[in-house]
Amino acid sequence: MPVHSGRTLKRTCWGILLTFLLGGIVDCRLTISVPGPSIVDAKVGSNVTLSVLYTGATDPVVEWMMGILPIVTWSIGSSQPPDIPARFDALRIESDGSLTFRDVQLKHDSAYTVRMSKSGVGTDKATFTLRVFDDIENVSVSVVPVKIVEGTDAFSLRYSTLQGEADSVKWYFNGKAIENGARYDMGDKSLTIMDPTRRETGRYTLDLTNPFSSVTVDKDIAVLYGPDAPVLAVSPQKVAFDSGDSLSLSCGADGDPAPSVSWVFGGVTLPVSPDGSLNLTNVQTNQSGVYTCVLVNAETGDRLERNFTINVYERPSSSPVCSVEANGNEDLQYRCQWTGGDPEAQLSFPALNTSSSGSGDFNLTVTATPDLSGKAVTCTASHPLLQQNCSVTARGPAGFLPLVSAAVDGDGKLVATVSCDSMSVPIAMVTWSRGGQVITSGGRYLISPNTTVLSILDPTLDTSDLGVYTCDAANPLGRLENNVNLIGPKISESSLLNNQEGTVVTLSWETPRTSIITGFEVQMTGPDLTSSSAGSQPRKPRTDEFRTVQKKPGDARSTHLGTLDPESNYRFRVVPVAGQRVGEPSKEHRAGPGGLSGPAIAGIAAGIPCGILLLLIIIALIVFCACKRKRRQTRYPVSRAVEKVVTTQPNLNAPHNLLTGGLKNVDGPPDYSTHEASSERSSTLPSMVPPLPVRMATTV
Ligand SMILES: *[C@@H]1O[C@H](CO)[C@@H](O)[C@H](O)[C@H]1NC(C)=O
Ligand SMILES: *[C@@H]1O[C@H](CO)[C@@H](O)[C@H](O)[C@H]1NC(C)=O
Ligand SMILES: *[C@@H]1O[C@H](CO)[C@@H](O)[C@H](O)[C@H]1NC(C)=O
Ligand SMILES: *[C@@H]1O[C@H](CO)[C@@H](O)[C@H](O)[C@H]1NC(C)=O
Ligand SMILES: *[C@@H]1O[C@H](CO)[C@@H](O)[C@H](O)[C@H]1NC(C)=O
Ligand SMILES: *[C@@H]1O[C@H](CO)[C@@H](O)[C@H](O)[C@H]1NC(C)=O
Ligand SMILES: *[C@@H]1O[C@H](CO)[C@@H](O)[C@H](O)[C@H]1NC(C)=O
Ligand SMILES: *[C@@H]1O[C@H](CO)[C@@H](O)[C@H](O)[C@H]1NC(C)=O
Ligand SMILES: *[C@@H]1O[C@H](CO)[C@@H](O)[C@H](O)[C@H]1NC(C)=O
Repeated sequence: MPVHSGRTLKRTCWGILLTFLLGGIVDCRLTISVPGPSIVDAKVGSNVTLSVLYTGATDPVVEWMMGILPIVTWSIGSSQPPDIPARFDALRIESDGSLTFRDVQLKHDSAYTVRMSKSGVGTDKATFTLRVFDDIENVSVSVVPVKIVEGTDAFSLRYSTLQGEADSVKWYFNGKAIENGARYDMGDKSLTIMDPTRRETGRYTLDLTNPFSSVTVDKDIAVLYGPDAPVLAVSPQKVAFDSGDSLSLSCGADGDPAPSVSWVFGGVTLPVSPDGSLNLTNVQTNQSGVYTCVLVNAETGDRLERNFTINVYERPSSSPVCSVEANGNEDLQYRCQWTGGDPEAQLSFPALNTSSSGSGDFNLTVTATPDLSGKAVTCTASHPLLQQNCSVTARGPAGFLPLVSAAVDGDGKLVATVSCDSMSVPIAMVTWSRGGQVITSGGRYLISPNTTVLSILDPTLDTSDLGVYTCDAANPLGRLENNVNLIGPKISESSLLNNQEGTVVTLSWETPRTSIITGFEVQMTGPDLTSSSAGSQPRKPRTDEFRTVQKKPGDARSTHLGTLDPESNYRFRVVPVAGQRVGEPSKEHRAGPGGLSGPAIAGIAAGIPCGILLLLIIIALIVFCACKRKRRQTRYPVSRAVEKVVTTQPNLNAPHNLLTGGLKNVDGPPDYSTHEASSERSSTLPSMVPPLPVRMATTV
C-alpha cells in the first residue's frame, strides 16, 4: 500500500504541475490502480475480489467486462443498484468499484477489464485474469492403442479428470522425467511415444498439479514383442542319428508374452512336452527330414518358423565284403557289397577308378593287367554313420599240386577224384584232358561245377583209367598246366619198430601221392595177438599164411600191434586197398627171436664162440674209438649205448634184435612222420656201424 499511495501522490503532483503548466485550466485526471495481483487464482466455491482503486474523480461510472462481455455497470455512490444480469447474480460490486465473486465457479474463469469514466475528467481501465481451479479428482490414464507392439509407429497415453484441471502436467518413465524430443511428444493431455521398443516397457507416471491440489497416477505399460529368432538345439548333439536312438529337439525364443512352441514334421503337428521340446524315442529312418519349429506370440499373433534337419540313418550289415570274379577271359569284375544301410553305403575302388562309385552293391569291371595279380585292391565303403574298407587280391594260378583221393560211394563203387585247386582268385576254370583229349563231364567222368575237381567213377585201375591226366587252370590273370600220373593202390615205403620187451610193434608206411587208395589191410603171420600179456594161455602156433588183423582207413599211415609173445616169431605187412580191389602188399617185416629154421640155429650155436670172439674184438674196437674221440670231445653219448650193448651181449638174441632192425623204445612210438627217417633206419642199421645207437640211447 505505501508504494501505491506513493505512486498516487506522484501522479497527483504531476497533475498539479501539469495544471500549473497548462495555466490552471485542467483538473487531475481519473486514474485506476490495482492494489493486489492482477492474476488471481481462486478455488471453486470461494469468495474472491478483484480489487481496484481510483483517483482524480469522484463517483465515476464503473464498468466490468468479462472478456468483451459487459457484466456490471454502475455509477459509484449512486442510489441506483448496479445493473447486473441475472446469470451473474453471484457478483457484487463494491463501493470502490472492486468486483467480488461469491461462490466462484469455473465458468467465471476469464479475463476481466474494468473501466471507469467521468465526464470532463476522462477514463481509465485495468485488466485482471481470474483463474478458477477445482480439486483434481478421478484422473484416468488410457493407452492407445490397447496393444502396444514393438515396431509399430507410436502409442499414446491420454489422461482425463472428472474434476479439476491442472496448470502443470509432468510425465515420468521409471521415475525419470520425460522431456519433449524425438521419442516423446507431449500434447494436450497426452504423451505420445514414437517407435516403441521393448525398452519402453515400464512404469509411466503422470503428475498433475494446480494451485490447490496435485494428483499422481502410475500406469504400467508392456510393449509386446517377439517371437525373436529362436535358438534351435538337438540333444544329444549329433550330425546323424542311428535308427533306434532317442533325441530331444528344443526351440526357445524370447518374446512378450513368451511365444508358444509347436513342431511340425511332414505337415503334421507333433505333440511337445510342456517345456516346448520335442522328444523322439526309437527314431526310424523315415523320421529323417525337416522339422519346423513354429513360434507364435499369442497376444500379437506374430509367428515365426524355423527349420531343423534331423538325419536318421540305419547302419549297413556287419562289414563290407569284397570279391572278384572273372568277366570273360580278359576282364576282372571287382565287387564290393555292403547292403542294409539307409541310405546305402557309398562304395568305390579308388585304386582302380577314382571317378566310378556305387552304392550298396558295386561292380567295377577292369581289364586284367598283370599288375593286378597279387595286388590288394581296397574298396572304400562310407556310410554317414561309419566308414569301413575291405580288400580283395586277385591272382593268377601259381605252383599248385594236384591232389588225388579216393572213396567208395553209396553203391560200394570206387570213386577216384583229382583236384586241381590252383588257389587263384577269381577261381580258375580248369580244363581237364588226357592224352590230348579234353575230358567233359558225363559218363564215368564228373567235373565239379567250379571245374576244379574231376571224379572218375568206378575206375578200372588199369591202363585204360590210370596214367597221366592234365589239368589246365586259367583265369584272366594267367594260366597254368599240371600233370598228374594216376596210379593204382601202392605202398612206397614201410617199416616196423618194436618196444623193448618185444610185445608191441608199430608198422608204418607211405604211399605215392597220386595213388588211388581207400584203405589198408594190416596182415601178419604167427601166433594170435592177445589183448594183454599177463595171464595169457599158451599161444597156439599158426601157419605161415598172412591173415588180415586190422583194416585202416585211407588216411592211416601207421598202426600199433600187440600184444606179441616175445618168444614167438611174427611177420607183418600192409596191403593197400582201392574199393574192392587190393594192390601189391608192402614188403614183409619180421619180429620175434629169429624166425630161423632149426639147422640154422644149430649153425649159429656152433658159431657162438667165434661170435663171442668177434664181439669182443668189436667192443675193444669201439672202446678204443670212444677213448680216442673223448680226447677231442669231452662227452659223447655213444658210450652209454655201447655199455648197453655190452651188457645185453651175453643174451644171444641181442644181436638178432639189432640186426632185424628192432629198435627199442620204451617212451612210446617214435616219430615216423617222414619216410626218409624210416628209410634211413632201415638202410643204416644192418651195417652194424655204431653211430646210430646214439639216437636210440635210453635211460632205463
Ligand atoms: C462469502 O460471502 C458470503 C456473504 O458475504 C458469506 O455468507 C460466505 O460465507 C462467504 N463464503 C466464504 C467461503 O467465505
Ligand atoms: C472419484 O473417485 C472417488 C474415490 O477414488 C470415488 O469415490 C468417486 O466415486 C469417483 N467419482 C466418480 C464420478 O467416478
Ligand atoms: C524330453 O526330453 C528332455 C530332455 O531330454 C527332458 O528334460 C524332458 O523331460 C522330456 N520330456 C518328456 C515329456 O519326456
Ligand atoms: C516309419 O516307418 C515305420 C515302420 O518302420 C512306420 O510304423 C511308421 O508309421 C513310419 N512313419 C512315418 C512318419 O512314415
Ligand atoms: C522349411 O522347410 C519347408 C519344407 O522343407 C520349406 O517349405 C520351408 O520353406 C522351409 N522354411 C524355412 C524358413 O527355411
Ligand atoms: C572310370 O569309370 C568311368 C565311368 O564308370 C569311365 O568313364 C572311366 O573311363 C573310368 N576310368 C578309368 C581310368 O578306367
Ligand atoms: C554285380 O555282379 C553280380 C554278378 O556278376 C551280379 O549278381 C550283381 O547283380 C551285380 N551288382 C550290380 C549292382 O550290378
Ligand atoms: C579306408 O581306406 C581309405 C583310403 O584307402 C583310408 O583313407 C581310410 O583310412 C580307410 N579306413 C579304414 C577304416 O580302414
Ligand atoms: C570247387 O568245388 C568243389 C566241389 O564242389 C569244392 O570242394 C571246392 O572247395 C571248390 N573250390 C573252390 C575254390 O571253391
